[in-house]
Amino acid sequence: MTHDTTPTQPATTPAPSAAAAPAPPGGPAASATAAGGAGTRLDPWFGSYAARAHGMRASEIRALFAVANRPEVVSLAGGMPFIEGLPLDVIGEAVQRLIATKGTTALQYGSGQGDEELRERILEIVALEGITDAHPDDVVVTTGSQQGLDLVTRIFVDPGDVVLAEAPSYVGALGVFRSYEAQVQHVPLDADGLVPEALERAIVQARSAGQRVKFLYTIPNYHNPAGVTLSLERRQRVLEICKRHGVLIIEDNPYGLLGFDREPLPALRAFDDEGVVYLGSFSKTFAPGYRVGWVIAPHAVREKLVLASESSILSPSNASQMAITTYLATCDWRGQIKAYREMYRERRDAMVGALSEHLPSASWNVPDGGFYVWVRLPDGLDARSMLPRAVTERVAYVPGTAFFYDGQGADHMRLSFCYPTPERIREGVRRLASVVNSEADLVRLFGTHAEPDDDPRDAEHPSPNLA
Ligand SMILES: Cc1ncc(COP(=O)(O)O)c(C=O)c1O
Repeated sequence: MTHDTTPTQPATTPAPSAAAAPAPPGGPAASATAAGGAGTRLDPWFGSYAARAHGMRASEIRALFAVANRPEVVSLAGGMPFIEGLPLDVIGEAVQRLIATKGTTALQYGSGQGDEELRERILEIVALEGITDAHPDDVVVTTGSQQGLDLVTRIFVDPGDVVLAEAPSYVGALGVFRSYEAQVQHVPLDADGLVPEALERAIVQARSAGQRVKFLYTIPNYHNPAGVTLSLERRQRVLEICKRHGVLIIEDNPYGLLGFDREPLPALRAFDDEGVVYLGSFSKTFAPGYRVGWVIAPHAVREKLVLASESSILSPSNASQMAITTYLATCDWRGQIKAYREMYRERRDAMVGALSEHLPSASWNVPDGGFYVWVRLPDGLDARSMLPRAVTERVAYVPGTAFFYDGQGADHMRLSFCYPTPERIREGVRRLASVVNSEADLVRLFGTHAEPDDDPRDAEHPSPNLA
């Protein structure tokens, strides 16, 4: 049986009304104010918020995730690395030594661009993906790659500008794009990643509609949530198309070193130092708790990023950066990545094995790295409306709608295999299958309730569980 359901969405998807209108002065809240609602009893400052803050709403599935964190629930929802797999005692001792010997620096403010020693070490890491021409000066250390996304969007995107992103795309990036009032145009992907012809069509269509395309946001390796990897041949074509049309590429690559069966493909940035801004992170290959990521950018862009970062956080945490530098210098970080890869491969196998056994009516791709399996539900099922039942049955996942700007994706769900043990994964999939199968029975009896849904709220403010 083939289980390749890599998504194929229309080349350009209509943006939702709230997001499509270029930065409506305030969106829903502004109209409430215009209608005379200058405040509410719950929030007297309602009428004072900036337009962009009115677009910020918590995802309605957030509350469910509070329940999903209970120990009796098998959470296949969060993209949390399995930190228990780290040598915590060794790391703990190293951190203790660090504070005892270099505490006056570690606990002080630092440079806005980030610690130079760490920036040098970061170059050793990206060399594993073919980036060998970068200089420590090209690197900006950020508070996770999430801050990198925020900074890049802040310096490039005006309200109404178009950002191109895969369909589906990372929920946290969509939240950033929305908060800067960008208009996201989804570009389909398939088993080989982003479809180059569709990318070119999207650029041409947006331009001929008079829109400004600011950048392509892409996750080339072990995509979140689709699990696919951009083929080498397509990397060249995506670079060529973006170069020809003058479109900057934002390459977001937190999972690139977590391949199960092969060495990493060269990064897009390895082929182009002018047209690509590269985002990296220690979150998935080491630990997200330090909140350290980085951006590698062309010189002029890098200057703006540093200024933007200084204005929001002054400087990234010295203590975190130095702890990571110590880890890289004193622990076998390559061996740790290898151990993570083996552990995640075993969990991936547990998940796809359990899906084959318990849920043959669904289909899915088999990722060869990363954290995620993207599952297409049997016809007529709606992953979002099914979620409360799943949580009642003590299993959680993220509905596909979270990964689209425009409410598509109800027929998909993202399952993460990174955190639960293989036994828990098998148990979680078994519970999930019983929910899906009884939902499918209901649909057969009473017809579909999977209506197209244009409520994009899931992508607004994801909880860390959605990462
Ligand atoms: C594709 C992608 N980009 C960025 C991030 C943010 O990671 P960080 O912890 O470095 O902020 C995540 C986290 O899940 C992710 O999946």
